[in-house]
Amino acid sequence: MSPRSICVDRFAGKVALVTGGAHGIGRGMAERLHAEGAAIVIGDRDDAAGAQVASVLDARRPGSAHFVHADVSDLEQVRALVAATLQRFGRLDVLMANAGIHQVEPFLAEDDATWREILGVNLTGAYYCVREAARAMPTGGSIVVTASTNSFFMETEMAAYNVSKAGVAGLVRTAALDLAPRGIRINAVAPGLIRTRMTTGVTENPAHAAAYLQTIPLARFGEPADVAAAAGFLASDDADWITGALLVVDGGQTLGSNAPAGGGV
Ligand SMILES: NC(=O)c1ccc[n+]([C@@H]2O[C@H](COP(=O)([O-])OP(=O)(O)OC[C@H]3O[C@@H](n4cnc5c(N)ncnc54)[C@H](O)[C@@H]3O)[C@@H](O)[C@H]2O)c1
Repeated sequence: MSPRSICVDRFAGKVALVTGGAHGIGRGMAERLHAEGAAIVIGDRDDAAGAQVASVLDARRPGSAHFVHADVSDLEQVRALVAATLQRFGRLDVLMANAGIHQVEPFLAEDDATWREILGVNLTGAYYCVREAARAMPTGGSIVVTASTNSFFMETEMAAYNVSKAGVAGLVRTAALDLAPRGIRINAVAPGLIRTRMTTGVTENPAHAAAYLQTIPLARFGEPADVAAAAGFLASDDADWITGALLVVDGGQTLGSNAPAGGGV
């Protein structure tokens, strides 16, 4: 993250809940919001890593970060997560519904358990978090959901993931209509390939990484900080008249073909 891009007080006095904040993109979001003044609750099912991230943030500003165990696919755990946030910090202003999983599996070989698990975490889990957090924002707030370029740009052997993220894009648009009268904005970030645990199969395989980079016009993989910057904008007052939007953060990968001109004419 470039320190120059930090807006020091953008989230001062605000309380933000980040799901999946123990690793990767969610960790980047938590770090960014915290650096810009927010108190942070990290909800994650990885207790050791989640507690570690919270303690690093808390050491920077004592009393400003807290970890709560939560599996977002379990409604009771999501309710407990929101309740713990209110108990700890007294309010909730920003939700980053980011927790997600993926699996590569041939379409015809996919089993029901994989389908249910991916839809359960990525789509139903996001829905639970959005709904329960919105109920805890009586005077308004801002929500960002982590969608994906897979929301609209399908990849083979990822049916459950593709459908879950297409569903997330729909969730954000429908919730934006219902939540606007309550003063709650909700938007999505749609990352392309970001360097996290989820993508080591591409980024740490030199041949695969080199071929993949050819598909990204800006010629590098994304970093969690790239997504956190976009999510921070959407959550902030700078985006005060933006709701239901899907902000693509992919280095240009899904714009179209970046093959040399002439091939298709
Ligand atoms: N990395 C990418 O290229 C990329 C691209 C587009 C979208 N995304 C999305 O970004 C989000 C974060 O992914 P990432 O790349 O940082 O992966 P990651 O594996 O590094 O982090 C995911 C985090 O979510 C947590 N988590 C998983 N299931 C959970 C559950 N049921 N309840 C609570 N926490 C849970 C994990 O413990 C982890 O902390 C996901 O929604 C993913 O689909 C990632």
